[in-house]
Amino acid sequence: MSTAPVLELRGIDKSFGPVQVLHDVAFSVYPGEVTALVGDNGAGKSTLVKCIGGIHPFDSGDYFFEGKQAHVSSPRDAASMGVEIVYQDLALCDNLDIVQNMFLGRERKRGLVLDEDTMEEMAAKTLLGLSVRTVKSLRQHVSSLSGGQRQTVAIAKAVLWNSKVVILDEPTAALGVAQTAQVLELVRRLADKGLAVVLISHNMNDVFAVSDRIAALYLGRMAAQVKTSDVTHSQIVELITAGRSGELGLQNGKEATA
Ligand SMILES: Nc1ncnc2c1ncn2[C@@H]1O[C@H](COP(=O)(O)OP(=O)(O)OP(=O)(O)O)[C@@H](O)[C@H]1O
Ligand SMILES: [Mg+2]
Repeated sequence: MSTAPVLELRGIDKSFGPVQVLHDVAFSVYPGEVTALVGDNGAGKSTLVKCIGGIHPFDSGDYFFEGKQAHVSSPRDAASMGVEIVYQDLALCDNLDIVQNMFLGRERKRGLVLDEDTMEEMAAKTLLGLSVRTVKSLRQHVSSLSGGQRQTVAIAKAVLWNSKVVILDEPTAALGVAQTAQVLELVRRLADKGLAVVLISHNMNDVFAVSDRIAALYLGRMAAQVKTSDVTHSQIVELITAGRSGELGLQNGKEATA
């Protein structure tokens, strides 16, 4: 597992008006791995992810993709490199069906008309490839799906486009036990297919169940990036709540180098 990161950020600063939300943040994600991004409410997780996705411009810092410096100033830039984000507030349209949602804004056309057959086939293939079998019909409206199924559709939508990095902002926050397990299995499968997956979660059980690495943000600073197998639950909880845990974490405001 000594591959190079597919995506790497260095020295990211981001302010909203006078309030600095991210301070000198470094963050690396690796192909074939699930990286959990953890931190307390307001630590800056969603902001970091939105910088990666081109929603928010960052003030300074470097963005590398596949080893090359990248300039990402819109979601389109991020998508064209293969970076897809499933946002905390799911961007699915209730009044559209599964296929329509998956192709929203990127519809396939045959001549002047929509190529419904191809889109349906691609949607079916993607869901099957992810071993999703709980959805009855691809033509049912998203409003009729359970929370877990909606999350699954949102994730399938993100991987439809030859994505290399998929970022999931609290995909299990609103889910029950069984649905959480299903979504976590899906998260694992994405990584096993070779994708780099970033999972934002407040649930330590989920984090330890599915991640290979953990990155902990504390008050807008990257407190530590560690291999999951090298740390305990309580160390991560300390990093989240105090920014450090013994030798690990922020020492005088700087990330300790492990
Ligand atoms: N668009 C914005 N304008 C101004 N401030 C913002 C904006 N978005 C986020 N913030 C602020 O940035 C800080 C980090 O917020 P962010 O949403 O990144 O936290 P988070 O780690 O995702 O938290 P949570 O776990 O609650 O989702 C917060 O103090 C928040 O109020
Ligand atoms: Mg958030």
